[in-house]
Amino acid sequence: MTRNLLVIGATGKTGRYTTELLLQRGHRVRALVRRVDERSEGLAERGAEVVVGDVHDLDSLAQAAEGIDAAYFTYPIAPGLMDATANLAQAAEENGVRAIVNMSQISARREAASNAARQHWVAERLLDRSPVAVTHLRPTFFAEWLTTMWNGTGELRFPFADGRHAPIAARDQAKVIASILEDPAPHAGKIYPLYGAVELDHYGIAEAMTRALGRKVTYVPIELDEFTAILEKRGASQHLIQHLRAVAIDYRNGVFAGMNDVVKRIGGDDPLDVETFVAQNRALYDDHSA
Ligand SMILES: NC(=O)c1ccc[n+]([C@@H]2O[C@H](COP(=O)([O-])OP(=O)(O)OC[C@H]3O[C@@H](n4cnc5c(N)ncnc54)[C@H](OP(=O)(O)O)[C@@H]3O)[C@@H](O)[C@H]2O)c1
Repeated sequence: MTRNLLVIGATGKTGRYTTELLLQRGHRVRALVRRVDERSEGLAERGAEVVVGDVHDLDSLAQAAEGIDAAYFTYPIAPGLMDATANLAQAAEENGVRAIVNMSQISARREAASNAARQHWVAERLLDRSPVAVTHLRPTFFAEWLTTMWNGTGELRFPFADGRHAPIAARDQAKVIASILEDPAPHAGKIYPLYGAVELDHYGIAEAMTRALGRKVTYVPIELDEFTAILEKRGASQHLIQHLRAVAIDYRNGVFAGMNDVVKRIGGDDPLDVETFVAQNRALYDDHSA
């Protein structure tokens, strides 16, 4: 059945793939973007109805929600998640949106030391209080982290000790999101942790990257202060740095570890492993060669 679906954060990592997949499956997709640019034009060319808006502007969000059956909501690690979530709950209720898929994260906990992770947890509870059927997604670290943090030297300098996770690609998450948006009822009230195919420590991740790229990649465990300096040099916000320092400790303590069958069971396909993900994104690594 063709559905009217809204994707918020449609130019981001998970939003873009979700929009593309839903269009391929024949749905009417409204993509909320903050500005018209080449990313939004790419979505429009594929058939999305692109609307300019902002989750901090209730009126633009309410307009975007008009006539919508179900919505995907993602927001970056930035201040303002609570405000955005409250606006979404209001806009959805006003417009009779029946379901929301909410991007959260695996470290979302009442007691989280990360401000962003704790806000994700409160945002989940806020949406739970709305009359809309809500499904929360709690992914572990995205596989895309291995491209965005690549510095071209062949060294992975992270403060993760020998903690483990199964990196999950945004495209695999989009398969789950699209399937829930198509048929939300069985997923109402559910919280789904999302994982990639294989749980590894960063020594194992470096080995998988070495195989995929045909060049030596080495994991160098570092302490939090060096990591902070790396993030500051990259221009990360204080909000993001506070988050990443706190979740690095979570990571060491096993919060990001685990595996399940959610991607296969709901999304329909096995998730990618690191080697395949890196091989598929080889051009991004070649662009950043040292
Ligand atoms: N990365 C990880 O490893 C990881 C792991 C677990 C969970 N997560 C969760 O994933 C979420 C981020 O998802 P993502 O990576 O798919 O997104 P993303 O790539 O960070 O993109 C965020 C999207 O939101 C849009 N946006 C930002 N501010 C907005 C506003 N005020 N109004 C409307 N749209 C706005 C952005 O538009 P512009 O680009 O135009 O600003 C962009 O399209 C976060 O909540 C994070 O906690 C991430």
